[in-house]
Amino acid sequence: MSQLLEVTDLVKYFPVREVQGLRMTNVNVQAVDGVSFSLDTGQTLGLVGESGCGKSTTSRLLTRLLEPTSGSIVFEGTDLAQLPEPRLRPFRRDLQMIFQDPYSSLNPRHTVGTILSTPLRVHGLAKGREKQRVEELLELVGLNPEHINRYPNEFSGGQRQRIGIARALAVEPKLIVADEPVSALDVSIQAQVMNLLGNLRQELGIAFIFIAHDLGVVRHFCDRVAVMYLGKIVEMGDKEDIYNAPQHPYTQALLSAAPDINVVRGIPPKERIRLVGDVPSPVNPPSGCRFRTRCWKAQEICATQEPPLEPKLDSGSEQVIACHFPEIKQDLIADVANSDGLSSGGLGVSTQPEDPRLSAR
Ligand SMILES: Nc1ncnc2c1ncn2[C@@H]1O[C@H](COP(=O)(O)OP(=O)(O)OP(=O)(O)O)[C@@H](O)[C@H]1O
Ligand code: SF4
Ligand SMILES: [Mg+2]
Repeated sequence: MSQLLEVTDLVKYFPVREVQGLRMTNVNVQAVDGVSFSLDTGQTLGLVGESGCGKSTTSRLLTRLLEPTSGSIVFEGTDLAQLPEPRLRPFRRDLQMIFQDPYSSLNPRHTVGTILSTPLRVHGLAKGREKQRVEELLELVGLNPEHINRYPNEFSGGQRQRIGIARALAVEPKLIVADEPVSALDVSIQAQVMNLLGNLRQELGIAFIFIAHDLGVVRHFCDRVAVMYLGKIVEMGDKEDIYNAPQHPYTQALLSAAPDINVVRGIPPKERIRLVGDVPSPVNPPSGCRFRTRCWKAQEICATQEPPLEPKLDSGSEQVIACHFPEIKQDLIADVANSDGLSSGGLGVSTQPEDPRLSAR
């Protein structure tokens, strides 16, 4: 497989004003701080992590809906990070986004026909046969082509998300960035939309950056997984390595906190790691390892030296971990992939204020 995307040291700071003492001060929200990864043609990378860790900001940087503060986004050999808009336009076709909210992402005043034919016109595609192409797209995502003149409010949430998918597919992209594409949908509909995305991915060979709170969905859909914490990737690798042999304490906590599919299936709960305390502010993140204020393994070096994201234990895999004391923990999660891939619930990390910081049972 050839390399499609290489992201290096991607940074996004949002300047904001904050009350400090009695004064308003200019500070930076360090939403994404030094994210690096690569993606091959047709490959799927899942981005997971607690709310506010920078997943959506990363996805908006990749599609240049946001300007990066620094870093590079090399797509098929061209760095898109600092490219001015006119030179960016041809790449907009290759990189598409599917949004979380199917209600706000479609213009309510446009018919489905207009919504789907606009990108065709902008990119000069299917000239003279736009209507036919729109009907093909509707069929491709499982909608009735006869509904081409309907407005978004005449469709259900799941159907609207299918329209969003069709809009992304209209321009035949090489990469789709999907930010929680099913989390706003009913559980029964989630499975249908995920199956649609999986089939399209296989048929069309499109690469995906896939953001989801649900670890089951990510395992079901992705080849590789990157775990984010407070603006940084803390562990990344092949999904089987991440799920079966996580080495970073934060990944281990996320996996062990995935709701009790084990219990549902009558399997006794395995080791349960309970993370406590809130995620620190991205305005003033902890020195050294950003996870250290919640990590039960933290030592002095963790406060003074930032652990680089690199391979640690000789597993023969491409797993990289940003931790001074990585250690494989197995069997933290049941066989989520063999379920319907959608039943493990969210990344529900407990933040109960109790002491000691961690409890295992
Ligand atoms: N425009 C903005 N201005 C200031 N801060 C922002 C802005 N957009 C995002 N942030 C902050 O950046 C951080 C990362 O936000 P982001 O939306 O990327 O997180 P996320 O991982 O997608 O979270 P969620 O799982 O809740 O969607 C958060 O602290 C958020 O409050
Ligand atoms: S570097 Fe230290 S604080 Fe950070 S995850 Fe590893 S052990 Fe914990
Ligand atoms: Mg988000």
